Amino acid sequence: MDSWSENVPTEGAIELPPDPRALDAIGRNHSLETALADLVDNSIDAGATTVLIRFVRNHGRLRSLYVVDDGRGMAPDTIDAAMTVGGRRSYNAQDLGHFGLGLKAASFSQARCLTVMSRASGHAAVGRKWNLDRVSEVGFSCELVPSEFAAAELGKPWPHPLGERGTVIRWDDVAAFPASDNVEQTERFVDGKIAKICQHLGLIFHRFLENNRIQIDIDVHDVDEDLVGSPAPVTSLDPFAYGSSGRVDYPKVLRAELHGWRISFRCHLWPRRSSKPQFRLGGDGVKMQGLYFYRRDRLLQAGDWVGVHSDHPRLQLARVEVEIDNDIVGIFKMNPEKSRVLVGPEFAQLAASARAEDGTSLSDYLTVAEEVYRASTARSAERKAMIHPGSGLPPRVRKTIQQEIPELKGEDAIAIRWDLFPDDMFFYVDRDQRTLWLNKRYRTMLLGGKHGGLNDLPLLKSLLYLLVANTFEGDYFGPRDKDNIDLWQTILTAAVQAERR
Ligand SMILES: Nc1ncnc2c1ncn2[C@@H]1O[C@H](COP(=O)(O)OP(=O)(O)OP(=O)(O)O)[C@@H](O)[C@H]1O
Ligand SMILES: [Mg+2]
Repeated sequence: MDSWSENVPTEGAIELPPDPRALDAIGRNHSLETALADLVDNSIDAGATTVLIRFVRNHGRLRSLYVVDDGRGMAPDTIDAAMTVGGRRSYNAQDLGHFGLGLKAASFSQARCLTVMSRASGHAAVGRKWNLDRVSEVGFSCELVPSEFAAAELGKPWPHPLGERGTVIRWDDVAAFPASDNVEQTERFVDGKIAKICQHLGLIFHRFLENNRIQIDIDVHDVDEDLVGSPAPVTSLDPFAYGSSGRVDYPKVLRAELHGWRISFRCHLWPRRSSKPQFRLGGDGVKMQGLYFYRRDRLLQAGDWVGVHSDHPRLQLARVEVEIDNDIVGIFKMNPEKSRVLVGPEFAQLAASARAEDGTSLSDYLTVAEEVYRASTARSAERKAMIHPGSGLPPRVRKTIQQEIPELKGEDAIAIRWDLFPDDMFFYVDRDQRTLWLNKRYRTMLLGGKHGGLNDLPLLKSLLYLLVANTFEGDYFGPRDKDNIDLWQTILTAAVQAERR
């Protein structure tokens, strides 16, 4: 009675095409930046060397977004496959494409309307359009764009005009675009988005940007005035481009092999302090620690320890480069948005068994990362001592300096005062009188007509104090001090004169 039957019987079949509304749900994990990265993937796969991302504004309102590339374009039969959801093709070893979904998922996550216009060498221009509102009414019938319109879009005076091949992707009805036609609000929105897109694409495609395999620019076209703003170039943001390593024996490469799978972990240590923008990507270093997975030179995931360890502020200098090449692709899965990597159970084993030539394991590396972080924090507590300022600065500023900088013992404080110089020089380091003199002839101008006093212009004086304080140290001027003072003098005198003009 309740015995299990191996096969479930069937009697005939009915056609149940997916409900068109399913399209609304794909690509839900995308943001504008990650969606654009998916389109850039396609441009790279098409062999493009330039990609332009363009915001189009009409009557003060953002209306469309274009992605234009000079890749090999699509012939009429290819474009139909391209518009098909899940229309996979055969992929080359280096291709970034994988699911046959990217273009559609990325576009519908952002826009109600996707138009693709393209031309391959030796073919006429072709165009296809998906409009989500139409799809939900009449089903999956893709609209055909007249060849002349497609040709006109392709033939626009793009900054890098397309020759006989290229592709224009156009999004209309973009959900994130502000509904208002307030120019200032639109401007703010666009500026913010451009900055985010530059950062995201700069990071994801840094290896391509670094060796000029691709150039990506972003601009804004104001249709009313037919004005195109100057393009913002996307520049490479290499998350491993520190000046000097946090420790001399790093980076180290740790290798592991399991069931024929080979993987290497390139373990880096950032220095404690860095002015590079990629040091504080995403606003804080903590989030940027962890594993960086690359597939075919495209960064799939930036940071996260994927179960190897948990995030900790003390590990914020640790970043590890991992290549997912074809040998080990089986133990990884990427999400269709290509913004996360999911690892199989074998990964933890590979990570645990990885060793450098000197025997270092991942957990040794993490211990070192913590040590470097802690040692450098302790070091930063002992700042180099300096001579403190005397009269000339407001008490509050002097107090802050006293709190922040240890005082150099055995040296008198430096006064900062005004005097009328016989020449145009801006300042004078007077070691005998322990005074930094400022030329009075600039004082009224710098004060903008306000009355001066003993403690006037504290910002200017603090900056100068930080610059010259150590030239007051010791018994005599070293040649280096003299040279520095000459340099500062030349520049600051030119600057103050420029200010006066
Ligand atoms: N800019 C482009 N230039 C030339 N062909 C393109 C371009 N964009 C898309 N295509 C074609 O459209 C197809 C579908 O693109 P789509 O991004 O949807 O899938 P995919 O790239 O094959 O895989 P994935 O889902 O991993 O991105 C591509 O395989 C390619 O043939
Ligand atoms: Mg794709």
